[in-house]
Amino acid sequence: MSIRIYRDKEFELLDEVYDPGEDSFLLVEAALNEARPCDKVLEVGTGCGIVSLFVKEVAASVVATDISPHACRNARLNGVPVVRTDLFSGICGRFDLVVFNPPYLPTPPEERLSSWLNRAFDGGPTGRKEVSRFLADIDRILAPGGRILTVISTLTGIDETKRMFEERGFKAEQVSSEKVPFERLVVLKCIR
Ligand SMILES: C[S@@+](CC[C@H](N)C(=O)[O-])C[C@H]1O[C@@H](n2cnc3c(N)ncnc32)[C@H](O)[C@@H]1O
Repeated sequence: MSIRIYRDKEFELLDEVYDPGEDSFLLVEAALNEARPCDKVLEVGTGCGIVSLFVKEVAASVVATDISPHACRNARLNGVPVVRTDLFSGICGRFDLVVFNPPYLPTPPEERLSSWLNRAFDGGPTGRKEVSRFLADIDRILAPGGRILTVISTLTGIDETKRMFEERGFKAEQVSSEKVPFERLVVLKCIR
């Protein structure tokens, strides 16, 4: 276990849990910009809980999910209410804001890790596998007028990912972006 600091806030990071990076921080900033005091927020794939940790201070309520038992334990340690489930299959109700930093790296089968950490990175052969599954069921939990914030990378294909949202009837707008070694990260805000 180690202690990390972001924006003067300390949080714990357990082994086998995604170590927050530029993608996480870009999503924290976008979510703090987007969240309103009346919002019910769902974070999918919370990892150590860093995004929810900040958003819960500005929104009406936050609940998070993760498929990894280590991530769930870590998020709870950091005070984030979390449900262990695949995407949001174990979640009922509707949310005004859904945030998701998905596993977005194109990953051929031979590059998979055998640990839970694989779930943090492995976006399938195109990098868009989990985003595609997320979109397939999103209408069940997104409130009317609800917004989605998600992080993607040039490695995932920004235009291809935007098109997936557009095919489900969303307008996908880039709200922030950062160049990092080997890729550019983008936060998309998606609304109908
Ligand atoms: C890139 S990490 C992001 C973690 C954290 N939100 C952050 O920004 O630092 C992706 C997270 O999604 C989780 N995840 C991957 N597939 C998932 C699924 N099908 N259902 C729930 N969580 C999933 C992983 O375990 C991992 O914690």
